[in-house]
Amino acid sequence: MTGAPRDKAAQALTEEEAAAELEALAGEIAAHDRAYYQDDAPVITDAAYDALRRRNETIEARFPHLKRDDSPSARVGAPAAGGFAKVTHGRPMLSLANAFDEADVRDFVDGVRRFLKELRDDPDLPLEFVAEPKIDGLSVSLRYEGGRFVQGATRGDGTVGEDVTTNLRTLKDVPDTIFGNDVPAVVEVRGEVYMTRPDFAALNARQAEAGGKVFANPRNAAAGSLRQLDSTITAARPLRFFAYAWGEVSAPFGNTYWGVLHLLRGWDFEINPLARLCRDVDHCLRFYRDTEAMRARLPYDIDGVVYKVNRLDWQERLGQVSRAPRWAVAHKFPAEQAQTVLHRITVQVGRTGALTPVAELEPVTVGGVVVSRATLHNEDEIARKDVREGDTVVVQRAGDVIPQVVSVVLDRRQPDSRPFVFPDLCPECDSLAVREEGEAARRCTGGLVCPAQAVERLKHFVSRDAFDIEGLGGKHVEAFRRDGLIGTPADIFRLADHAQGIREREGWGDKSVDNLLAAVEAKRSIGLDRFIYALGIRQVGQATARLLARQYGSLPAWRRAMTEAADPDSDAYRDLVNIDGVGPSVAADLIAFFAEDHNLGVLDDLDGQLTVADYAAPTAADSPVTGKTVVFTGTLETLTRNEAKARAEALGAKVAGSVSSKTDYVVVGADAGSKARKAADLGVKTLSEQEWLELIG
Ligand code: IVH
Repeated sequence: MTGAPRDKAAQALTEEEAAAELEALAGEIAAHDRAYYQDDAPVITDAAYDALRRRNETIEARFPHLKRDDSPSARVGAPAAGGFAKVTHGRPMLSLANAFDEADVRDFVDGVRRFLKELRDDPDLPLEFVAEPKIDGLSVSLRYEGGRFVQGATRGDGTVGEDVTTNLRTLKDVPDTIFGNDVPAVVEVRGEVYMTRPDFAALNARQAEAGGKVFANPRNAAAGSLRQLDSTITAARPLRFFAYAWGEVSAPFGNTYWGVLHLLRGWDFEINPLARLCRDVDHCLRFYRDTEAMRARLPYDIDGVVYKVNRLDWQERLGQVSRAPRWAVAHKFPAEQAQTVLHRITVQVGRTGALTPVAELEPVTVGGVVVSRATLHNEDEIARKDVREGDTVVVQRAGDVIPQVVSVVLDRRQPDSRPFVFPDLCPECDSLAVREEGEAARRCTGGLVCPAQAVERLKHFVSRDAFDIEGLGGKHVEAFRRDGLIGTPADIFRLADHAQGIREREGWGDKSVDNLLAAVEAKRSIGLDRFIYALGIRQVGQATARLLARQYGSLPAWRRAMTEAADPDSDAYRDLVNIDGVGPSVAADLIAFFAEDHNLGVLDDLDGQLTVADYAAPTAADSPVTGKTVVFTGTLETLTRNEAKARAEALGAKVAGSVSSKTDYVVVGADAGSKARKAADLGVKTLSEQEWLELIG
């Protein structure tokens, strides 16, 4: 801060003092904006920040002619906005499944061939792919209406992203208008925003000179530059864009991916010049090797290549599994590695009590990112690699996965080193930690008394794929729990009772508390699938939660069924294990969860705070098979079993593995056996494949 007398009433300032203070405030507020928005590391409370801005405004009101060009009050999207507006994507933005070696790629291609009946039946039928580099940037969606760019958004969680339209307009690779009679009325063009390596180096040099933030790698620089509230900052950053996908389109616009890439190029988008049409898997793998050989010479970072089925009708039929398309895969380059010293092995306790060993490392740069911790997975892995404290180890980082310890550099082992002894007591609560038959993890048996499990469950509850409560990160959950503000999930919905106390906490101000409470309120109603996932039941991930939500429809129905399923002879148990994707092992974990009074108490408590919406089938709510239970049996003629199942589910039907009185339809293919007979015995309606196809249209 300069010598301006900050404590002097603004009304009493001389003109000279006012000018000096406005200059100081501009610099200071800009620095806080950077700390908050670029580094996610504010150094003052929101209240102190607000006071600085108010002071600036008061002085400007008194001396309007002294208002500076770089005045904080003139900046667009001033931080009071608390970030960017949310945008719901016209169609979700998917991610990609990964392949790490040739065998994975062949599995992917075989999977495609097995899924589509005509490809399965005719191995000579060509299956072409487009192969292209996987750009290491961040994906965005650009919406054009009537050919005009109207909205641009980040990926976010895939369903809802952030509105960065103004910033995207500053990119020369993002056309403002697209022309041609082939332009649909509405089209969302998607692709990657990135920064070239030379541009990144120059930006960092400028930043360092100006005392600004230096970025770890081009990806971070691109992300930080795009997520600026002040679009003039984005405009000054050399961001680029490659188009490689699309979202909502008002009319179909091609038969092949390759064709669409060229259409996009005709609309003045950049498409990656290295993209190639490949006739088969070997051709794809050749592309991979060629691209890898070129990698270091490319002007931008890539972390692998992507293969996409070229025919769009096949893409459509292949659909997606959870959040990744079945028609594409990312073939990753080998992870980057580095050597460093492992100082200590600490053991963390997860949500389900699993003890995970973590290597605390001498910080080392691996592929442009500083790594100071890496996972050691479990006790067998430590024993297998004989990792010891004090060892020099090889660590690797592949894309966004957690860094891992690959091996020990034995030549550099200290003579006095000793094998690591894995604890058999929980490091957090001292309960016995046991390893069950066939399990890789040793688990704390402390359950409810273990503070680590409790806090991890709470973190899971508010995490992105669960309740997604913005502004309530892991660190806050830990602190709130430690200080008794929250103990169980429902307490999160009672945080408003502690508003005053939170406002007084270090690092919290009126604005951030208001935002937090609003974020909590916004989640008082939630879908059944997210709710089930949020409970953090062992083995119940997002996909299983969705299956359960689809099967049972409502929270009361699910709860009743899970309690009844405790009896292995009950219909409820049979229905549960009959869900395709839920077996006896998952069923056992569900039943165990409902057998604990404490968990029922948590559910009751949440019930009083929340509205859990019944599960709505994701598409075609009015399809003739929504909510119906279908069993496929025998050999189908036009569809593989997988495609039949995927399509039925997309229309809101449940697919079961065996016939019961609850089955609505049994679709009977050639050579059907006992299931068709059972359907007849139970009087369940049977359909031929043709009848089924007519039914679903
Ligand atoms: S296709 C539905 N193609 O990789 C298909 N993604 O791991 C969606 N990416 O979120 C993605 N280069 O940010 C595709 N040529 C490329 C890509 C690419 C980079 C990124 C993208 C995506 C992530 C998935």
